[in-house]
Amino acid sequence: MKLSVSDVAVKGKRVLLRVDFNVPLSGERVVDDTRIRAALPTITDLLERGARLILASHLGRPRGEVRPELRLDPVAIRLSELLGQPVRKLDRVIGPEVQQAVKSLADGEAILLENLRFEKGEEANDPDFARQLAQTADLLVNDAFGTAHRAHASTAGVAAYIPAAAGLLMLKEIETLTRCLEDPARPLAAILGGAKVSDKLGVIRRFLKLADTLLLGGAMANTFLAALDYPLGESLYEEELVDDALDILEESETSSCCLQLPVDLVTARELKPRSPFKTVPVGEGDEGWKAVDIGPETAALFGEIAVEAGTILWNGPLGVFETAPFHRGTETVARAVAGSRAFSIAGGGDIVAALESFGLAGQIDFISTGGGATLKFWEGETLPGIAALRDK
Ligand code: 3PG
Repeated sequence: MKLSVSDVAVKGKRVLLRVDFNVPLSGERVVDDTRIRAALPTITDLLERGARLILASHLGRPRGEVRPELRLDPVAIRLSELLGQPVRKLDRVIGPEVQQAVKSLADGEAILLENLRFEKGEEANDPDFARQLAQTADLLVNDAFGTAHRAHASTAGVAAYIPAAAGLLMLKEIETLTRCLEDPARPLAAILGGAKVSDKLGVIRRFLKLADTLLLGGAMANTFLAALDYPLGESLYEEELVDDALDILEESETSSCCLQLPVDLVTARELKPRSPFKTVPVGEGDEGWKAVDIGPETAALFGEIAVEAGTILWNGPLGVFETAPFHRGTETVARAVAGSRAFSIAGGGDIVAALESFGLAGQIDFISTGGGATLKFWEGETLPGIAALRDK
């Protein structure tokens, strides 16, 4: 069991709270504040208990350079609105300005540091940078589950200098994801989609051991269809992974998990709204056409499996949901998941965006704030941001 923020007396303490405020922006506006809202229970708890909060997050991938469009000012504005109390945003991550601001913090007040990834030492997990980050605080609370798969200074390195406890969101993610892997209500159905199979090979192999059914859709399923020598026209697939896909298909033959590929596909000439499209059984893809969605028969089949499931784990959309009408396959399955008695978890920015666009996100039992982190967790990997937390 990891040390929880609730186990620690924080009154008057300087708490470095690592959050994942890697949120989509449109100019000066936060487009989706889900991740900010998800951290509010920990922030509110710490402020109410009189901590002096130093919030820290990354935003985007500036790779050690200051990129004005990735400053955290819009995040500070949104956070202040949600909290109903001002959160001062600093223009630095470390240094005298930060030390001064921390000194002037009263109990129950919060500041937000600048984007951690403006500093080269963050992603390099540089010990000197980690020490400087740690020296303004008495305690690290890590609530950034979405970044827990990164061994960076703020998620891992800092813990060498100050005690590290898990925030409430981090604990909820760990507890919920663990329960659904170790003791799921059965049948356990996993649904994986999205463009690439390259970042999902590990999780596919793990699900073949743990799940009762594994449903594959989206462009990543094309690599499996290519491994079976189905003609795919212009469809996207990862040629260099066809052998891995074949290995997985062979493994699935002796697994107790049923791996289900699409049985039909929606294909289009172009990825544009109102472009001509047709539904074809797999194996009948035409030259010049590309797969853009699972077909209605596949969607119905996946939906039936979802309705019968006890637990559903879902990452990645099953088609190009952003371009109507190629959202239909994902939406049909999403409606079945939402209506199922199963305990459902969705993780990953794209599937969450899809569920939100269908107005169904509220009917999913748990929306994980992790994308890559959730996949790594499902894969059974030790996440550095979790490993760095103290045991109790
Ligand atoms: C995410 O959005 O998945 C996390 O914030 C991690 O971001 P990263 O992939 O840029 O490390």
